[in-house]
Amino acid sequence: VRVGNLMAFLQYASMILIALIMLAMTFVMIPRAQASADRINEVLLTLPSITDPKEPQKDSGLRGYVEFQNVTFRYAGAEKPVLEDITFKAKPGETTAIIGSTGAGKTTILQLIPRFFDIEKGTVLVNGTDVRKMAQKELRAKIGYVPQKASIFSGTIKDNIRFGKEDATDEEILEALETAQAAEFVEGKENGIESDIEQAGANLSGGQKQRLSIARALVRKPEIYLFDDSFSALDYKTDQKLRKALKKTTDDAAVIIVAQRVSTITDADQIIVLNEGKIAGIGTHQQLLAENGIYQEIVASQQAEEESA
Ligand SMILES: Nc1ncnc2c1ncn2[C@@H]1O[C@H](COP(=O)(O)OP(=O)(O)O)[C@@H](O)[C@H]1O
Ligand SMILES: [Mg+2]
Repeated sequence: VRVGNLMAFLQYASMILIALIMLAMTFVMIPRAQASADRINEVLLTLPSITDPKEPQKDSGLRGYVEFQNVTFRYAGAEKPVLEDITFKAKPGETTAIIGSTGAGKTTILQLIPRFFDIEKGTVLVNGTDVRKMAQKELRAKIGYVPQKASIFSGTIKDNIRFGKEDATDEEILEALETAQAAEFVEGKENGIESDIEQAGANLSGGQKQRLSIARALVRKPEIYLFDDSFSALDYKTDQKLRKALKKTTDDAAVIIVAQRVSTITDADQIIVLNEGKIAGIGTHQQLLAENGIYQEIVASQQAEEESA
Protein backbone atom coordinates (compact mmCIF):
# COMPACT_ATOMS: atom_id res chain seq x y z
CA VAL A 1 0.00 0.00 0.00
CA ARG A 2 1.12 3.45 -0.70
CA VAL A 3 1.44 6.01 2.08
CA GLY A 4 -1.07 8.28 0.34
CA ASN A 5 -3.75 5.62 0.39
CA LEU A 6 -3.12 4.86 4.03
CA MET A 7 -3.40 8.55 4.96
CA ALA A 8 -6.60 8.92 3.00
CA PHE A 9 -8.06 5.86 4.71
CA LEU A 10 -7.18 7.23 8.15
CA GLN A 11 -8.68 10.61 7.33
CA TYR A 12 -11.96 9.13 6.12
CA ALA A 13 -12.12 6.74 9.05
CA SER A 14 -11.72 9.53 11.56
CA MET A 15 -14.34 11.65 9.77
CA ILE A 16 -16.80 8.78 10.00
CA LEU A 17 -15.89 8.20 13.62
CA ILE A 18 -16.48 11.84 14.52
CA ALA A 19 -19.81 11.78 12.72
CA LEU A 20 -20.82 8.73 14.74
CA ILE A 21 -19.81 10.42 18.00
CA MET A 22 -21.90 13.44 17.02
CA LEU A 23 -24.85 11.19 16.30
CA ALA A 24 -24.53 9.56 19.71
CA MET A 25 -24.36 12.99 21.36
CA THR A 26 -27.50 14.08 19.57
CA PHE A 27 -29.34 11.14 21.10
CA VAL A 28 -28.17 12.23 24.53
CA MET A 29 -29.21 15.85 23.88
CA ILE A 30 -32.72 15.10 22.64
CA PRO A 31 -34.23 13.96 25.96
CA ARG A 32 -32.43 16.77 27.77
CA ALA A 33 -33.79 19.38 25.38
CA GLN A 34 -37.22 17.80 25.72
CA ALA A 35 -37.11 18.10 29.50
CA SER A 36 -35.95 21.71 29.30
CA ALA A 37 -38.67 22.60 26.82
CA ASP A 38 -41.29 21.05 29.09
CA ARG A 39 -40.03 23.05 32.05
CA ILE A 40 -39.96 26.31 30.08
CA ASN A 41 -43.52 25.70 28.96
CA GLU A 42 -44.54 24.98 32.52
CA VAL A 43 -43.11 28.31 33.68
CA LEU A 44 -44.64 30.23 30.79
CA LEU A 45 -48.06 28.69 31.37
CA THR A 46 -48.07 29.22 35.14
CA LEU A 47 -50.88 31.53 36.14
CA PRO A 48 -50.02 34.07 38.83
CA SER A 49 -51.47 33.03 42.18
CA ILE A 50 -51.92 36.67 43.18
CA THR A 51 -54.67 38.14 41.06
CA ASP A 52 -56.74 41.29 41.13
CA PRO A 53 -60.32 41.03 42.35
CA LYS A 54 -62.99 41.33 39.64
CA GLU A 55 -64.33 44.48 41.18
CA PRO A 56 -61.59 46.21 43.18
CA GLN A 57 -62.82 48.18 46.15
CA LYS A 58 -62.88 51.95 45.78
CA ASP A 59 -60.36 54.07 47.63
CA SER A 60 -61.43 54.43 51.26
CA GLY A 61 -60.19 58.01 51.47
CA LEU A 62 -57.90 57.11 54.36
CA ARG A 63 -54.14 57.61 54.01
CA GLY A 64 -51.23 55.83 55.61
CA TYR A 65 -52.93 53.10 57.65
CA VAL A 66 -51.64 49.55 57.86
CA GLU A 67 -53.25 46.90 59.99
CA PHE A 68 -52.60 43.20 60.57
CA GLN A 69 -55.44 41.21 62.13
CA ASN A 70 -54.46 37.76 63.41
CA VAL A 71 -52.31 37.10 60.37
CA THR A 72 -50.91 33.62 59.87
CA PHE A 73 -48.76 32.92 56.83
CA ARG A 74 -46.69 30.05 55.48
CA TYR A 75 -44.53 29.92 52.37
CA ALA A 76 -45.82 27.50 49.74
CA GLY A 77 -44.79 23.97 50.65
CA ALA A 78 -43.44 24.91 54.09
CA GLU A 79 -44.32 22.68 57.01
CA LYS A 80 -44.64 25.41 59.59
CA PRO A 81 -46.10 28.90 59.28
CA VAL A 82 -43.40 31.61 59.39
CA LEU A 83 -45.83 34.09 60.92
CA GLU A 84 -48.48 33.24 63.46
CA ASP A 85 -51.32 35.36 64.78
CA ILE A 86 -49.71 38.73 64.03
CA THR A 87 -51.82 41.70 65.06
CA PHE A 88 -50.73 45.34 65.03
CA LYS A 89 -51.65 48.75 63.64
CA ALA A 90 -49.48 51.40 62.00
CA LYS A 91 -50.87 54.90 61.70
CA PRO A 92 -49.88 57.95 59.64
CA GLY A 93 -47.29 60.13 61.31
CA GLU A 94 -46.08 57.23 63.43
CA THR A 95 -43.03 55.04 63.20
CA THR A 96 -43.47 51.34 63.81
CA ALA A 97 -40.28 49.36 64.29
CA ILE A 98 -39.84 45.62 64.04
CA ILE A 99 -36.93 43.96 65.79
CA GLY A 100 -36.02 40.30 66.19
CA SER A 101 -33.37 37.76 65.31
CA THR A 102 -32.57 36.58 61.79
CA GLY A 103 -35.30 34.34 60.44
CA ALA A 104 -37.92 35.73 62.83
CA GLY A 105 -40.10 36.78 59.88
CA LYS A 106 -39.47 40.54 59.76
CA THR A 107 -38.95 40.72 56.00
CA THR A 108 -41.97 38.52 55.48
CA ILE A 109 -44.20 40.93 57.43
CA LEU A 110 -43.12 43.81 55.19
CA GLN A 111 -43.68 41.78 52.03
CA LEU A 112 -47.24 40.96 53.00
CA ILE A 113 -48.18 44.65 52.93
CA PRO A 114 -47.70 45.09 49.12
CA ARG A 115 -49.27 41.60 48.83
CA PHE A 116 -46.26 39.76 47.44
CA PHE A 117 -47.85 36.69 49.04
CA ASP A 118 -51.37 35.78 50.14
CA ILE A 119 -51.88 34.89 53.76
CA GLU A 120 -53.44 31.78 55.22
CA LYS A 121 -55.50 33.23 58.02
CA GLY A 122 -56.45 36.71 59.15
CA THR A 123 -56.46 40.00 57.24
CA VAL A 124 -53.92 42.54 56.05
CA LEU A 125 -55.56 45.94 55.70
CA VAL A 126 -54.24 49.06 54.01
CA ASN A 127 -56.27 52.17 54.68
CA GLY A 128 -58.95 49.97 56.18
CA THR A 129 -59.34 47.81 53.06
CA ASP A 130 -58.29 44.17 52.75
CA VAL A 131 -55.31 44.12 50.36
CA ARG A 132 -56.92 41.20 48.49
CA LYS A 133 -59.82 43.48 47.59
CA MET A 134 -57.61 46.18 46.07
CA ALA A 135 -56.13 46.45 42.59
CA GLN A 136 -52.45 45.52 42.98
CA LYS A 137 -51.28 48.53 41.01
CA GLU A 138 -53.14 50.94 43.26
CA LEU A 139 -52.03 49.18 46.40
CA ARG A 140 -48.36 49.21 45.40
CA ALA A 141 -48.51 52.83 44.28
CA LYS A 142 -49.15 53.76 47.93
CA ILE A 143 -46.05 51.96 49.16
CA GLY A 144 -42.37 52.86 49.11
CA TYR A 145 -40.44 49.68 49.83
CA VAL A 146 -36.70 49.67 50.45
CA PRO A 147 -35.62 46.01 50.35
CA GLN A 148 -33.02 44.51 52.63
CA LYS A 149 -30.52 44.24 49.80
CA ALA A 150 -30.18 47.50 47.86
CA SER A 151 -30.41 46.82 44.14
CA ILE A 152 -28.57 49.36 42.05
CA PHE A 153 -28.51 49.17 38.27
CA SER A 154 -25.94 50.33 35.77
CA GLY A 155 -26.86 53.73 34.36
CA THR A 156 -26.73 57.18 35.89
CA ILE A 157 -27.69 58.05 39.44
CA LYS A 158 -30.67 59.86 37.98
CA ASP A 159 -31.82 56.71 36.15
CA ASN A 160 -31.57 54.77 39.36
CA ILE A 161 -33.68 57.23 41.33
CA ARG A 162 -36.19 57.61 38.51
CA PHE A 163 -36.84 53.92 38.79
CA GLY A 164 -39.00 54.97 41.75
CA LYS A 165 -40.87 57.58 39.73
CA GLU A 166 -40.46 57.67 35.97
CA ASP A 167 -41.15 61.36 35.46
CA ALA A 168 -39.34 62.73 38.51
CA THR A 169 -37.81 66.15 37.90
CA ASP A 170 -34.23 67.01 38.84
CA GLU A 171 -35.54 69.04 41.79
CA GLU A 172 -37.52 66.08 43.09
CA ILE A 173 -34.49 63.83 42.70
CA LEU A 174 -32.23 66.26 44.53
CA GLU A 175 -34.77 66.62 47.30
CA ALA A 176 -34.97 62.84 47.75
CA LEU A 177 -31.17 62.58 47.75
CA GLU A 178 -31.01 65.35 50.32
CA THR A 179 -33.37 63.55 52.69
CA ALA A 180 -31.57 60.25 52.13
CA GLN A 181 -28.28 61.94 53.10
CA ALA A 182 -26.91 61.10 49.68
CA ALA A 183 -26.76 64.63 48.24
CA GLU A 184 -23.26 65.26 49.50
CA PHE A 185 -21.53 62.32 47.88
CA VAL A 186 -23.56 62.68 44.68
CA GLU A 187 -22.68 66.35 44.34
CA GLY A 188 -19.07 65.47 45.03
CA LYS A 189 -19.04 63.45 41.83
CA GLU A 190 -17.94 65.16 38.64
CA ASN A 191 -21.28 64.89 36.87
CA GLY A 192 -23.59 65.04 39.89
CA ILE A 193 -26.81 63.10 39.35
CA GLU A 194 -25.73 62.37 35.77
CA SER A 195 -22.74 60.38 37.05
CA ASP A 196 -22.54 56.81 35.86
CA ILE A 197 -22.94 53.88 38.17
CA GLU A 198 -21.25 50.65 37.29
CA GLN A 199 -23.11 47.39 37.15
CA ALA A 200 -24.55 46.44 40.55
CA GLY A 201 -23.11 49.66 41.95
CA ALA A 202 -19.55 48.34 41.98
CA ASN A 203 -18.16 51.88 42.30
CA LEU A 204 -20.26 52.68 45.38
CA SER A 205 -19.92 51.72 49.03
CA GLY A 206 -22.58 49.70 50.80
CA GLY A 207 -23.85 52.76 52.64
CA GLN A 208 -24.02 54.77 49.43
CA LYS A 209 -26.04 52.05 47.75
CA GLN A 210 -28.40 51.95 50.70
CA ARG A 211 -28.93 55.70 50.57
CA LEU A 212 -29.63 55.67 46.83
CA SER A 213 -32.12 52.90 47.31
CA ILE A 214 -33.79 54.93 50.07
CA ALA A 215 -33.89 58.00 47.80
CA ARG A 216 -35.58 55.87 45.16
CA ALA A 217 -38.42 55.12 47.56
CA LEU A 218 -38.62 58.72 48.83
CA VAL A 219 -38.98 60.27 45.38
CA ARG A 220 -42.39 58.62 45.01
CA LYS A 221 -43.73 60.33 48.14
CA PRO A 222 -45.66 57.24 49.16
CA GLU A 223 -48.07 57.12 52.10
CA ILE A 224 -46.54 53.94 53.49
CA TYR A 225 -42.79 53.56 53.89
CA LEU A 226 -41.27 50.14 54.42
CA PHE A 227 -37.59 50.07 55.34
CA ASP A 228 -36.12 46.60 55.61
CA ASP A 229 -32.95 46.95 57.59
CA SER A 230 -32.11 49.87 55.33
CA PHE A 231 -29.84 51.70 57.74
CA SER A 232 -27.50 48.84 58.60
CA ALA A 233 -24.58 49.98 56.45
CA LEU A 234 -24.77 53.60 57.69
CA ASP A 235 -22.63 54.88 60.49
CA TYR A 236 -24.42 55.94 63.64
CA LYS A 237 -24.34 59.65 62.83
CA THR A 238 -25.65 59.35 59.26
CA ASP A 239 -28.31 56.97 60.50
CA GLN A 240 -29.45 59.60 63.00
CA LYS A 241 -29.41 62.47 60.48
CA LEU A 242 -31.31 60.42 57.96
CA ARG A 243 -34.05 59.50 60.39
CA LYS A 244 -34.39 63.12 61.46
CA ALA A 245 -34.77 64.29 57.84
CA LEU A 246 -37.15 61.44 57.19
CA LYS A 247 -39.37 62.50 60.07
CA LYS A 248 -40.07 65.79 58.26
CA THR A 249 -40.97 64.30 54.89
CA THR A 250 -43.05 61.49 56.32
CA ASP A 251 -45.24 63.37 58.76
CA ASP A 252 -48.48 62.15 57.19
CA ALA A 253 -47.21 58.70 56.22
CA ALA A 254 -46.89 55.42 58.03
CA VAL A 255 -43.29 54.36 58.49
CA ILE A 256 -42.42 50.75 59.24
CA ILE A 257 -38.76 50.05 59.94
CA VAL A 258 -37.10 46.69 60.35
CA ALA A 259 -33.90 47.19 62.29
CA GLN A 260 -31.04 45.24 63.77
CA ARG A 261 -29.63 48.07 65.85
CA VAL A 262 -31.67 49.12 68.87
CA SER A 263 -30.29 52.66 68.54
CA THR A 264 -32.12 53.03 65.20
CA ILE A 265 -35.51 52.50 66.79
CA THR A 266 -35.38 53.87 70.35
CA ASP A 267 -37.55 56.83 69.38
CA ALA A 268 -40.13 54.78 67.43
CA ASP A 269 -43.75 55.21 68.47
CA GLN A 270 -44.10 51.47 68.83
CA ILE A 271 -41.65 48.61 68.64
CA ILE A 272 -42.78 45.12 67.73
CA VAL A 273 -40.58 42.38 69.16
CA LEU A 274 -40.79 39.42 66.82
CA ASN A 275 -39.65 36.02 67.96
CA GLU A 276 -39.88 32.93 65.75
CA GLY A 277 -42.82 34.30 63.82
CA LYS A 278 -44.81 35.43 66.84
CA ILE A 279 -45.15 38.79 68.52
CA ALA A 280 -43.38 38.69 71.86
CA GLY A 281 -44.36 42.24 72.78
CA ILE A 282 -45.35 45.65 71.47
CA GLY A 283 -44.49 48.92 73.15
CA THR A 284 -42.12 51.86 73.31
CA HIS A 285 -38.43 51.39 74.01
CA GLN A 286 -38.94 52.32 77.67
CA GLN A 287 -41.92 50.01 78.16
CA LEU A 288 -40.20 47.05 76.52
CA LEU A 289 -36.98 47.69 78.36
CA ALA A 290 -38.89 47.55 81.62
CA GLU A 291 -40.99 44.45 81.02
CA ASN A 292 -40.02 42.44 77.92
CA GLY A 293 -37.46 39.69 78.49
CA ILE A 294 -36.61 39.17 74.83
CA TYR A 295 -36.16 42.88 74.23
CA GLN A 296 -33.92 43.14 77.29
CA GLU A 297 -31.83 40.31 75.89
CA ILE A 298 -31.44 42.04 72.51
CA VAL A 299 -30.44 45.30 74.18
CA ALA A 300 -28.00 43.57 76.51
CA SER A 301 -26.34 41.61 73.69
CA GLN A 302 -25.84 44.79 71.66
CA GLN A 303 -24.37 46.63 74.63
CA ALA A 304 -21.95 43.76 75.18
CA GLU A 305 -20.97 43.96 71.52
CA GLU A 306 -20.35 47.69 71.71
CA GLU A 307 -18.21 47.33 74.79
CA SER A 308 -16.08 44.64 73.24
CA ALA A 309 -15.69 46.63 70.03
N1 LIG B 1 -39.35 32.88 49.70
C1 LIG B 1 -39.26 32.05 50.74
N2 LIG B 1 -39.65 30.76 50.64
C2 LIG B 1 -39.60 29.93 51.68
N3 LIG B 1 -39.17 30.28 52.91
C3 LIG B 1 -38.76 31.54 53.10
C4 LIG B 1 -38.78 32.49 52.02
N4 LIG B 1 -38.32 33.68 52.48
C5 LIG B 1 -38.02 33.46 53.79
N5 LIG B 1 -38.30 32.19 54.16
C6 LIG B 1 -38.14 31.63 55.52
O1 LIG B 1 -39.02 32.31 56.39
C7 LIG B 1 -38.40 32.59 57.63
C8 LIG B 1 -38.47 34.09 57.92
O2 LIG B 1 -37.68 34.78 56.98
P1 LIG B 1 -37.55 36.35 56.94
O3 LIG B 1 -38.90 36.96 56.92
O4 LIG B 1 -36.64 36.69 55.82
O5 LIG B 1 -36.87 36.65 58.35
P2 LIG B 1 -36.05 37.94 58.84
O6 LIG B 1 -36.25 39.04 57.86
O7 LIG B 1 -36.61 38.23 60.19
O8 LIG B 1 -34.62 37.52 58.93
C9 LIG B 1 -36.99 32.05 57.53
O9 LIG B 1 -36.98 30.78 58.20
C10 LIG B 1 -36.75 31.89 56.07
O10 LIG B 1 -35.89 30.82 55.81
MG1 LIG C 1 -34.97 40.08 56.72
